[in-house]
Amino acid sequence: MKNFTLFLITLLCLFQIINAQLSPNVRKLFSTVHIEKKLYVYGGFMDNENANAQKTPDDRFFYLDVSIPFDTSNLPWRTIPDNAKNLPLESLSSIFTGGSAASIGGVNNETIYLFNNENDNKTSILSYNSQSNIWNTQNFSGVKPIGRNQITAVTDYTGKIYLLTGFDIIAQGVKRTNGLFICDTINSNCVIKDAPLSRLGYGVTLLPNGNLVYMGGSDKTFAPISDNFKLIYIYDTINDRWDSKITIGNFPPSDAGVTTVLGLNGDKIILFGGVNGDDNNLYVLNLANFEWYVPKTRGKGPVFKRGQHCANVIGKYMVLTFGSNGVTEVKYRSSGESDVLLLDISNDSEYVWTTSFDPTSLVTTNSTSSVPLPSNSSGSKNDLAIKIGISVGLIVLIIIILIVIFLFIRRRKNEQSAIPTPGNAYYDKRKNAKMVIPTPGSIHYDKTNI
Ligand SMILES: *[C@@H]1O[C@H](CO)[C@@H](O)[C@H](O)[C@H]1NC(C)=O
Ligand SMILES: *[C@@H]1O[C@H](CO)[C@@H](O)[C@H](O)[C@H]1NC(C)=O
Ligand SMILES: *[C@@H]1O[C@H](CO)[C@@H](O)[C@H](O)[C@H]1NC(C)=O
Ligand SMILES: *[C@@H]1O[C@H](CO)[C@@H](O)[C@H](O)[C@H]1NC(C)=O
Ligand SMILES: *[C@@H]1O[C@H](CO)[C@@H](O)[C@H](O)[C@H]1NC(C)=O
Repeated sequence: MKNFTLFLITLLCLFQIINAQLSPNVRKLFSTVHIEKKLYVYGGFMDNENANAQKTPDDRFFYLDVSIPFDTSNLPWRTIPDNAKNLPLESLSSIFTGGSAASIGGVNNETIYLFNNENDNKTSILSYNSQSNIWNTQNFSGVKPIGRNQITAVTDYTGKIYLLTGFDIIAQGVKRTNGLFICDTINSNCVIKDAPLSRLGYGVTLLPNGNLVYMGGSDKTFAPISDNFKLIYIYDTINDRWDSKITIGNFPPSDAGVTTVLGLNGDKIILFGGVNGDDNNLYVLNLANFEWYVPKTRGKGPVFKRGQHCANVIGKYMVLTFGSNGVTEVKYRSSGESDVLLLDISNDSEYVWTTSFDPTSLVTTNSTSSVPLPSNSSGSKNDLAIKIGISVGLIVLIIIILIVIFLFIRRRKNEQSAIPTPGNAYYDKRKNAKMVIPTPGSIHYDKTNI
């Protein structure tokens, strides 16, 4: 009997681990870094609502599991193993001094680099290796870079991270009002270059040719700069040259707190959100002629425009995370909108707002190919096989559990009325079926379990 009970408890613990989920606080002014099948979220805050969130390791650094299909009504947020023990909280700038900036880098594209701001006398660059789960202090030669939560960090194809500043800064003892920090994560070196613009809360997009396109954003007093989508700036990372372009068409009204991503064909920039009152939240810049237009979309898009959020392209989706409505409000959450929005950008003639994430689109496609993966590709077949395998496995597991429960009850005839429900299993009477179902939203991650 003891063995049976032990077996049952082990199975239920397995379920608990599989279903261990986080319910992160809503936030703005944070960073996301996409590494393989994880979308890491670092930092952020929301006025009044969770000023203390920064002190809780698992609410400060966690990830979205993009290896599995999910619906945005039930997001697979996950804790990072040993995070409470490993996260160097005290070495990272706090939100009160301006936060930090983060981007990917390193020889194998598997390390997150975090740049502190200048208001803290802290080690300037910390790194987190996503494969080894190890935090490190990086010793870069050259200039000490400055990060901020309003600096949009971007990494090029050679492992260099670019940080365009909008504050007055002191670099190498010299006060300046603009600057582009370039930190080479392969050779561990940082430099600062002059920049023709000084911005905060801007969008930056890496093009296939290595150019960075900067647009939008505010000045150091947080006032949006006029015509900041009409006049855009381009930095040629290969030849170290700045250029600017006057765009045409239906350009968006000036805004800050925006995000921009490159379309899947590499010939369009997709702009989402911001903090101004413009109700439209999506614009596209065609890079062939630098003409703006409002894209055709299908599906139920967000009712509330979001700003100071993050955007990443994962598979065929533009993945938008968190953000605020206006500057201080989070109306989207109270109205039932998810913390994650998915825009399927695989068809340039019509983008589709969707709530379901399909990880098969993560299969690497040629960037020049405009055709989305057909649904009967081998990738989906494999995925289907895996799904069937997992389903069959789960059913067998459930049957075993039911048999064990049945035997257990039979042995204890005097305890007929109640079934013990450890963990998150329950008896679903409405469905008139015995099932082990994780209770959505009620699972709290127990650190002592790891
Ligand atoms: C940082 O260091 C400088 C120079 O050592 C010092 O003047 C300043 O007070 C320090 N700031 C903080 C926040 O500790
Ligand atoms: C950076 O330097 C410190 C102090 O010298 C050292 O403890 C640390 O290991 C170095 N970090 C790396 C990644 O080499
Ligand atoms: C990192 O990944 C990008 C995109 O997959 C690739 O283009 C780039 O060459 C990689 N960088 C390094 C340093 O491996
Ligand atoms: C892309 O969208 C357009 C407009 O809705 C549609 O006519 C076309 O068939 C779509 N293409 C693909 C490959 O789905
Ligand atoms: C990607 O492009 C390469 C070279 O152009 C080609 O050989 C390969 O078949 C393409 N792969 C896919 C999946 O289209």
